[in-house]
Amino acid sequence: MGSYKNSAILLDRAKQVLAGGVSSEFRKYNHPHAIFYSHGKGSRIYDVDGNEYLDFTLSQGPLILGHSHPHVLKSVAEYSEEGQLYAGQHIREVELAEKLNALIPSAELMRFCLDGSEAVQTAFRVARAKTGRKKFLRFEGHYHGWLDNVAYGISAPNADALGDREQPNVFPWTAGLPDSSRDDFIVLPWNDLELVGRVLEKRHEEIAAIITEPIMCNNGCILPKEGFLSGLRELCNKYGVTLIFDEVITGFRVGLGGAQSYYGVTPDLSIFAKAMGSGYPISAIVGKREWMELVAAGKVIHAGTMNAGNPTVAAALATIEVLEQEMPYDRMHRLGRKLMQGLQRTAAEAAQDLSVQGLGPMFVTYFGVSQPLSDYRDTLGTNKAKLGRFVAGLHDAGVRVIGRGLWYISAAHTEAEINQAIEVASRVLHDMNSA
Ligand SMILES: Cc1ncc(COP(=O)(O)O)c(C=O)c1O
Repeated sequence: MGSYKNSAILLDRAKQVLAGGVSSEFRKYNHPHAIFYSHGKGSRIYDVDGNEYLDFTLSQGPLILGHSHPHVLKSVAEYSEEGQLYAGQHIREVELAEKLNALIPSAELMRFCLDGSEAVQTAFRVARAKTGRKKFLRFEGHYHGWLDNVAYGISAPNADALGDREQPNVFPWTAGLPDSSRDDFIVLPWNDLELVGRVLEKRHEEIAAIITEPIMCNNGCILPKEGFLSGLRELCNKYGVTLIFDEVITGFRVGLGGAQSYYGVTPDLSIFAKAMGSGYPISAIVGKREWMELVAAGKVIHAGTMNAGNPTVAAALATIEVLEQEMPYDRMHRLGRKLMQGLQRTAAEAAQDLSVQGLGPMFVTYFGVSQPLSDYRDTLGTNKAKLGRFVAGLHDAGVRVIGRGLWYISAAHTEAEINQAIEVASRVLHDMNSA
């Protein structure tokens, strides 16, 4: 087991000037505390104590090509040399938009932003303007960023506390939310088309949009039930509601056209971020012309001093170039499935109640519930303490995964590394028996 001594010293120092020692809340929850890293290369990341990790966090998803991909670094350096930000247009943002337009079914018109959170809010604004309605319908356990009106329905103490499925209790995620933000949304359990249909029938005149992660990656890596996404599409058509896919995770991860291509369901608006930019701050709100014309005409305002600067556009173009050239998707799906199966097999050998669920390029591991998870309420019954021990054990043995049990596969991972991860997991699972 490696030492975390240097990280601990730096964390103490950081806490004097950085709130909690970090720049994003989630970074606090590493093992055994926030860790300081020195560099990353391919599928590996290294910390300031000299520990090397086989990295399945990929910085919470963005590093689809692995760390420090040479083509991305070269393009960023070259375009940054030319200039950084013009408060004006440059040819490469048009090239990037043309690329997205060719790859993503719903991307007729688009705007670039810096991150997923603000692109989500842009989508709400467009949907409200288009429909003249105020609320959006969202789903329990889905994450759409950290801003006020989406900071509910992400956390709950337990499934019982959520109460009635048709009118769930919603728990604020943070202090400091204005009361008015509660009026923005309706929350429902996910994957229950019949329930969405009933609520829309009664309340569609209030509802501007339905927003959903097409795969519920943030909790349980739950796949949509057969017909759920296409059913949402039909309901939205029927009731004049905007369908928004939040593809911040699924975009460029499940395939070049995102989950909308993978499942063959075209939303009206969608959000792309994370894997699109290989770790550089760029996102896109893309949509059908009928919706995005409101932005084009200046009726819906979208702005941002830092939007579409040279380095971020360069990173996105270079990432997509590599993805198009190498087409790593079959491989990432296959390696992911191999890892999922290996973990499941090894858990059975160690008599551990570990389950694995997801698509391959991303999946979760959880303990204590044997049946597949199909909505957020199911995830609340899993054994979080045991998952914490598993993730900590992996980390101590040089395999880094996201604390809530989420694993991402990159184009840089090799077959040998998948075998290595399975071997490490096997040791950790056996050791957990004796702990
Ligand atoms: C599905 C989804 N939507 C939106 C966001 C927010 O994106 P960002 O952190 O870039 O603001 C995230 C972040 O993890 C996400 O997973």
